[in-house]
Amino acid sequence: MSGRGARGRRFSDRAYFWAAFASVMLSVHACIYVMTAWAFPGWLKALWLSAGASALCASASAPLVGPPRNGTGRVSLRSVLQRAGAVWNFVVLFSAAYEILLLAISHIHAMPPRALFPAALCLALLTCLYGLFEAWNVRSVFFSLQTRKLGPGERLRVVQISDLHIGPFMNAGHVARVARAALAAAPDLVVITGDTVDGVVGDGSDTLPFYRPFVRELRAIRESGPRMGVWAVPGNHEYYESFKESARFIESAGICLLRGSKADLGAVLLIGADDMDHATPSDADRSLSRSEALINSLSADEEKKFVLLLRHRPVVEKSTLGKFDLQLSGHTHGGQLVSLPSSRHRIPGWPKGILRLPCGSNIYVSNGAGFVGPPMRFFAPAEIVVIDLTGK
Ligand SMILES: [Fe+2]
Repeated sequence: MSGRGARGRRFSDRAYFWAAFASVMLSVHACIYVMTAWAFPGWLKALWLSAGASALCASASAPLVGPPRNGTGRVSLRSVLQRAGAVWNFVVLFSAAYEILLLAISHIHAMPPRALFPAALCLALLTCLYGLFEAWNVRSVFFSLQTRKLGPGERLRVVQISDLHIGPFMNAGHVARVARAALAAAPDLVVITGDTVDGVVGDGSDTLPFYRPFVRELRAIRESGPRMGVWAVPGNHEYYESFKESARFIESAGICLLRGSKADLGAVLLIGADDMDHATPSDADRSLSRSEALINSLSADEEKKFVLLLRHRPVVEKSTLGKFDLQLSGHTHGGQLVSLPSSRHRIPGWPKGILRLPCGSNIYVSNGAGFVGPPMRFFAPAEIVVIDLTGK
């Protein structure tokens, strides 16, 4: 890793996570196969058992068949097996959940026992298909904010894109759809709030061939000319491999990267906090975090502008309330896989959507436009956010 503030490992890189996860999943798989195989007659039983065993072997053997990171920039067999295994795990988990539900229902309304599991499996497959659809189908979310910092009748349109997670399992077609949706909103300003890339995207001197189509799709946003430009801040995933490569990827798409710095865009003052700036003491004043020091140092003229704060994580520092007008964040993915109870409820800060804060500040936390892990979402659709700032 390189770059300021190189980060630690992802939680999913830790051995104890996988040991606990594998134990739970193996138990669920074993139970569901043994308990339900009898529901299928003859050849169907053999097919079900061999499909389950193959999927388990494929996902378990993934670490043995490819490099730990996608250093070539191509979709590795390991990545494909991991994601296929992850989707299969969801099919099995949902099958178990639906089986329990149908068993409970069958106590009230008699159902043929052999029909329960096939019904549960069909429901699980439909649920997972819906999860795949929700991940790949990007919606546009609109909201507006009135402000005295713009003249009466003046309007400024900002588009927020977050958490694309461009990595081995993303495809350029999805990023193209995100770019088209952003441009269809005719924005004055486009902001990207972190986790744009996820993995090794360069070889030390250039972007890897696999990632060049992604650069082209992102560059299309800049070339279509939002008059105030395209700006981004880093998220935690930019730091997991090589920040230098992540930054080069982003900047080669014509996107300006803010790392604990600000940009005067006329009516808008854009502040970009680096990931973890809220937890890193300022060099100038150790009693303040880097982001507190930056936000609290605005001049009187700067405070008259609409202060738009970009920060990947949805944390808000108390001392900065009233010093910014709108904070745009991501990181939580709106829960992505399991909305309740989900990771978004364990991440400090506001989990999703808009929140009016004290002293006139506001925060919006986006579900993000991509996904982490398997390409699935449940009740946390992929989104871009269109914000109309209107003067009053
Ligand atoms: Fe993310």
